[in-house]
Amino acid sequence: MKKPENLILVIFGASGDLTKRKLIPEVYELHRQNLLPEKFAVLGVSRTKMTDNEFQDKLAGSIKTFGEVTDESDLNEFKRKLFYLSIDVASPGDYSKVKSRLLELGSDSGPEKNYIFYLSTPPSLYDTIPHFLAGQGLNSQKEGWKRLVIEKPFGYDYQSAHQLNNSLLTEWQEDQIYRIDHYLGKETVQNLLVTRFSNGIFEPLWNRNYVHHVEITNAENLGIESRGGYYEGTGALRDMVQNHLLQLLALVAMEPPSSFDSNAVRNEKLKVFQSLRPLSETDIYTNIIRGQYMASKIRGEIVTGYRDESGVDPGSRTETYIAMKLYVDNWRWGGVPFYIRTGKRLPTRVSEIVIHFKPTPHYLFMTKDGGDGHNQLVIRIQPDEGILLKFGMKVPGHGFDVQTVNMDFHYSDVSDIKLPDAYARLLLDCMLGDSTLYSRGDAVEAAWKFIDPILDLWKRSTNIPIYGYPAGTWGPDVADSLIEGKGFTWRYPCKNLVDDGIYCEL
Ligand code: BG6
Repeated sequence: MKKPENLILVIFGASGDLTKRKLIPEVYELHRQNLLPEKFAVLGVSRTKMTDNEFQDKLAGSIKTFGEVTDESDLNEFKRKLFYLSIDVASPGDYSKVKSRLLELGSDSGPEKNYIFYLSTPPSLYDTIPHFLAGQGLNSQKEGWKRLVIEKPFGYDYQSAHQLNNSLLTEWQEDQIYRIDHYLGKETVQNLLVTRFSNGIFEPLWNRNYVHHVEITNAENLGIESRGGYYEGTGALRDMVQNHLLQLLALVAMEPPSSFDSNAVRNEKLKVFQSLRPLSETDIYTNIIRGQYMASKIRGEIVTGYRDESGVDPGSRTETYIAMKLYVDNWRWGGVPFYIRTGKRLPTRVSEIVIHFKPTPHYLFMTKDGGDGHNQLVIRIQPDEGILLKFGMKVPGHGFDVQTVNMDFHYSDVSDIKLPDAYARLLLDCMLGDSTLYSRGDAVEAAWKFIDPILDLWKRSTNIPIYGYPAGTWGPDVADSLIEGKGFTWRYPCKNLVDDGIYCEL
């Protein structure tokens, strides 16, 4: 496998949670798999005062907690690649220290001056840090390449995302900017493209002639935990729909790209965002259901309601659940509804896509379990990652009763495969200069353009209901009536791919 060129990974926000839980454990995983270049270093940058040694010890502890360590001496070898610099990231004068530290580290880690600047900071610094780096010439690619990785949220609405893009693009090139959406780094999300475009049997059916509707669910059983301050100003629409769920939708709906090249793939995704039918005020009233979890008892344990979580306004109208119906107005999908649903404190943690095929034009048989010739293809992102096809089979014996049965593939059956973490995959791609699985500026803006009218109307119209739902349930009941068509309802997925229903083991 191709290895990246020698480089230094600079992490801003190095004393934060993401660095500890994901970035460093996943960089270590790349080291373990021998995927890092020969000369490689991490420079952590943050306000907290710490020596290199303290940083190394702290992160070695995090790697043990959140990563996989099989060889202590290998971890010690990796530790020596970690360095730390304390600066005030909001002060332009401090950036000469970043530059001189990089030059100093470069004398050990290689002469190429290839740098990745990973911004794992509050979003308010997403334009400041790149600007101050550019002030030191650290955007210049005359000697070595320079890349920026920017975490979500990229903008707060269309205007702010547009401004952020403009501000970055005055000093950086689009191909230096890697906007991360960790859902695109998930193995099962990438497999969606392979399922569609490497199998002759699916693609001919993947359109308005055969698909009745598409359902995309992301459910979480946890609440907002300690993130009240962040979540209050965000809500499920900004936190999950604008990015992760619309990205999944784009991969389901896009046309085959001309090649598997970063721009070719991202051009097709952009077209999907541009084809989303703009939502009228009536659509926002009728096709979107928002909810907020209320206190409840889950398996005997009392669970706090959203409004009583720390950092949350007791009269909050922030949604922790959203279900919506939307359309992709193009030749492939004209008239096919896409249903999206996400929420905190739902019964289980599950992400999946369900393609509901149209029923047969005329149904010949009696059915045993309600099957009506309507097949489903379930693409499970997590957990019990896999693919499930539901189809009708004759119940053996007398008569012609039909029963729905399952044909399923689980990644866990391929026993020698450990699914890589999304961050390991995305970090490696950035090191290799491959931005296929990162969001391009125009697509982020197009997604915000679709979301903006919802944010705007919610802000203006206080009479749009926000329904309470008891924690541990599948959200407000009214969301059930969103799905059109006789006999159709949401799938209520269980932990196991093949099971569904509101009473299954969660
Ligand atoms: C993050 C959201 O982007 O994604 C969180 O901010 C959410 O609120 C998380 O919990 C879900 O990611 P995953 O990979 O656990 O499904």
